[in-house]
Amino acid sequence: MTGITVRVPAKVNLQLTVGPPRADGYHDLVTVFHAVSLFDQVTVEPAARDGVTVTGEGADRVPGDRDNLALRAVTALRTEVRARGPGKVHVTIAKRIPVAAGLAGGSADAAAALLAANELWATGLSQQRLREVGATVGSDVAFALLGGTAVGRGRGEQLTPALAPPTQYHWVLAFADGQLSTPAVYAALDRLRGQGQGQAGYGGTGSPPVSGGGLGGVVPPEATLDAALMSALRSGDAARVGQRLNNDLQPAAVSLFPALRKTLAAGLELGALGALVAGSGPTCVFLAANAERALELAVSLSGAGVCRSVARVSGPVPGAAVVSTG
Ligand code: C5P
Repeated sequence: MTGITVRVPAKVNLQLTVGPPRADGYHDLVTVFHAVSLFDQVTVEPAARDGVTVTGEGADRVPGDRDNLALRAVTALRTEVRARGPGKVHVTIAKRIPVAAGLAGGSADAAAALLAANELWATGLSQQRLREVGATVGSDVAFALLGGTAVGRGRGEQLTPALAPPTQYHWVLAFADGQLSTPAVYAALDRLRGQGQGQAGYGGTGSPPVSGGGLGGVVPPEATLDAALMSALRSGDAARVGQRLNNDLQPAAVSLFPALRKTLAAGLELGALGALVAGSGPTCVFLAANAERALELAVSLSGAGVCRSVARVSGPVPGAAVVSTG
């Protein structure tokens, strides 16, 4: 066997509710992950020594050494199955998911490398165990393996698939001219909350995109799943889903990247059913009523000059999957 190629999706969070910081520096979350049709492709093949090559969108900003999340995932798997002494590999990553954009591209690459190496070495590990190994590499890796729409708890690694009809949602992603660091956004949220700001984001109701502060925002004692969002997802009604989109990290992301305020407002003015920042940002996500509306929205948004570029995607899509073995 010469190599295994895996395709892996980006994610958005339809709900992202953040609890207080934990002793280990992470925050407990309740989130609704949703995998969308923007894919990286990762090939793992036997080699004389471990290495990584990255091409495509933002490749120059991805570490090419052992800090690369995909290589870290391979190392974690090797440790897990050490007894069988799997060999060295080269990982080739073809990126379409922008780097540090809130779309979990790094976690996606780690998940893909994990799945490919697991296949290459025929470890026989269960999907559940593979997800647990993935979770040691990054909070979103387990979801990138699972895909679909799923509720995440803990750091985001404890997953329950969401029961929903086979509705496809049509999204427009607005990529920003810049990046945000996830730890910096969480730290900004903690700061805003310390100042009594940083209340949750908003749905597509036409209200201002971000709380201006003074809402008396407090850290929720316990993050809870939004029953209305789950009910909207079960109904498959995009308009209802659009109204429940919510991301606690949004005010923090906007405070660090104020231009996002304009992007979010523009998408809503142009008819999106809902808008929010993807994860820790700075990508903005807009829900459209159907494929045609998504196309119109994408064209108008790129014409409005409020982002670097746009992409139309749909979701949910499956998690990491082998596309070829050679
Ligand atoms: O796990 P991952 O490497 O993706 O997380 C990146 C950073 O995001 C963490 O180091 C932490 O600062 C922040 N984070 C957090 N709480 C989470 C997930 C991530 O504070 N549940």
